Amino acid sequence: MNTSGNVEPLQDELSVDPWAVLNLLGDAVVAIGDDNTIRYVNYAAEQMFGMGAHTLVGCPLQELVSPDNPLFFIIEKTRDAGSSYAERSVRLGGPRIEEREVSVQAQPGFDNSGVVVLSLHEQTLAQHIDRQLVHRGAARSVTAMASMLAHEVKNPLSGIRGAAQLLEDGTDDGGRELTQLICDEADRIVALVNRMEAFSDERLLERSAVNIHEVLDRVKKIAENGFGRDLTFDVSFDPSLPMVLGNSDQLIQVFLNLIKNACEAVDEKNGVISLETRFRHGLRLAIPGSGERVDLPIEISVRDNGTGVPFDVQPYLFDPFVTTKTNGTGLGLALVAKLVGDHGGVVDLESDERGTAFKVMLPVDLGSEGQKQ
Ligand SMILES: Nc1ncnc2c1ncn2[C@@H]1O[C@H](COP(=O)(O)OP(=O)(O)OP(=O)(O)O)[C@@H](O)[C@H]1O
Ligand SMILES: [Mg+2]
Repeated sequence: MNTSGNVEPLQDELSVDPWAVLNLLGDAVVAIGDDNTIRYVNYAAEQMFGMGAHTLVGCPLQELVSPDNPLFFIIEKTRDAGSSYAERSVRLGGPRIEEREVSVQAQPGFDNSGVVVLSLHEQTLAQHIDRQLVHRGAARSVTAMASMLAHEVKNPLSGIRGAAQLLEDGTDDGGRELTQLICDEADRIVALVNRMEAFSDERLLERSAVNIHEVLDRVKKIAENGFGRDLTFDVSFDPSLPMVLGNSDQLIQVFLNLIKNACEAVDEKNGVISLETRFRHGLRLAIPGSGERVDLPIEISVRDNGTGVPFDVQPYLFDPFVTTKTNGTGLGLALVAKLVGDHGGVVDLESDERGTAFKVMLPVDLGSEGQKQ
């Protein structure tokens, strides 16, 4: 409005195309008609369903999503109540689309037309970030327990082990077998407590420019000469990747744990472990406890063609002591989550029956930006 009270005509240069705005949104927007056919999809929805608008518009929703999917309940409820409805962790999957987890926001359309507008937000990454903040808490409990065990278990155990060794001298073969058993078991428990103590390393993280390809080469060499001897390693590194801001020893530990798990998940004959690095814009995360935000554009994937992580275990995978292995401690991934978290980074998981990929996202060392690995 100008000073004389007249409304000024909308200036052309100020107007934007609303369709272009909808297509720029990261969330999928889908309008569903009263007969449950798709009436509109934005660009993100085309990507999510893996089909173009010309195929999707006019398509009955039940041809894409199984009829027993909660999405139909959400649509009905929104239509009947005439008010918006939201639900988290809805699994979308069906005959023609890939399975994924989304949060859904449904809004009733205009003029009682029966139209419902859905906005679908893919959850994987956001949810994993949430979970990781929980893992940081879990890591703190391991820290407290480790220091208790160091006092109450590790110290007395060294006394027990010493006594068994003393007994060994004055005994026969049968007795020696038993004293050896005491020593072996004592060593096993001490090794477990030592692994837990890795969580309580509270030294301020010394961080510098780290060439992540050197870290990965080193871990790959350890694997090829040990636990991954008979497996195939496939490497695809982006040579233009900038330096990572990190601690090289801790990053070796992170990738050692991930690659060891990958090697343990594949079958010896056809096992392939792929290591990939790439630069990916777009992920930014707040550092807990400070208002600061960091970009995490360095993505390292450790992929295997193994059995996949059972679906019901996936939400707890990074919790300490979660294991499906007879001799596992379940501390490997908990330590990965803690160390990556200390770097301000995140770990993401994708897994199905064809295999598993862990993606670690880390910050760039801004001091050496422009310097390639
Ligand atoms: N690449 C993978 N493929 C399939 N399952 C995996 C993979 N990585 C981890 N897992 C599952 O996650 C569980 C936890 O892994 P984690 O490394 O924390 O412990 P662990 O390997 O069982 O024991 P530890 O690392 O102490 O030897 C594993 O027992 C396994 O079930
Ligand atoms: Mg492990």
